[in-house]
Amino acid sequence: MIDGIVPLTREKKQLFYQHDLGINPRMTKREKGGKKEMDKWLELERQLRHEGTLLPERTRAEILRSAFAAGRLAVEERDNYIVAIAAIWPSPHPAWWEVGTIWVHPNFRRRGLANAVFSDALSKLHCLPGDGAFLITYKPHVADMVLAAGWTEVFWDISKVPEEAIQHRRYRHTAGAANVKERRLFCYPLRAERGHSTEPRPSIGEQQIGVE
Ligand SMILES: CC(C)(COP(=O)(O)OP(=O)(O)OC[C@H]1O[C@@H](n2cnc3c(N)ncnc32)[C@H](O)[C@@H]1OP(=O)(O)O)[C@@H](O)C(=O)NCCC(=O)NCCS
Repeated sequence: MIDGIVPLTREKKQLFYQHDLGINPRMTKREKGGKKEMDKWLELERQLRHEGTLLPERTRAEILRSAFAAGRLAVEERDNYIVAIAAIWPSPHPAWWEVGTIWVHPNFRRRGLANAVFSDALSKLHCLPGDGAFLITYKPHVADMVLAAGWTEVFWDISKVPEEAIQHRRYRHTAGAANVKERRLFCYPLRAERGHSTEPRPSIGEQQIGVE
């Protein structure tokens, strides 16, 4: 034993480890499981923020987690890490959704994961009420991907996507930064070809409206 250093008891050692891991020793097993689960979302938030190109309000762990719980977030996991996502967000129009926040962890790109989460998001979209969805992107490969999945480019035509759904985004399209002009608008009708129903969607919990 080294002078002046009191060896830790087994219990104290455990407390140290738990402290290092950010686990409160007084937590129940269930709470610890919940924390591990939340850590996964917090790590995702950290990665998305680091990416820097996605809307900050759509990168928050709780928002993404609740979108997942509501069946509006497609996720791919590897080793308990979320490595790819594609989300469905409510728009200001009650019957139109926005598909966005398509992201793949840099170490997992060019392996088809964007395609995988995007197809999964489309299946989820078909389970939701509403008339259609739109997607805005300036990335040519995202545009190619959505066209291949049967989406239509609508060149900011509001007879195809209701003005209300894209108004905020449209404003950014015309008045925003340089790359915003390159943004392309795609739509995917769900029920009627041009149905701009005003039937409200059932409440889906948190309403996250934003621009990307
Ligand atoms: C865009 C992004 C999601 C693509 O992820 P990915 O896993 O590399 O994509 P996939 O491997 O599924 O490829 C999808 C298609 O795009 C092509 N592609 C992917 N990255 C590409 C690139 N950098 N340049 C050209 N084509 C590319 C693939 O070849 C594939 O085409 P295919 O289906 O004909 O084979 C990813 O680069 C990313 O997360 N970027 C940062 C976030 C972002 O900008 N998201 C888009 C917001 S609209």
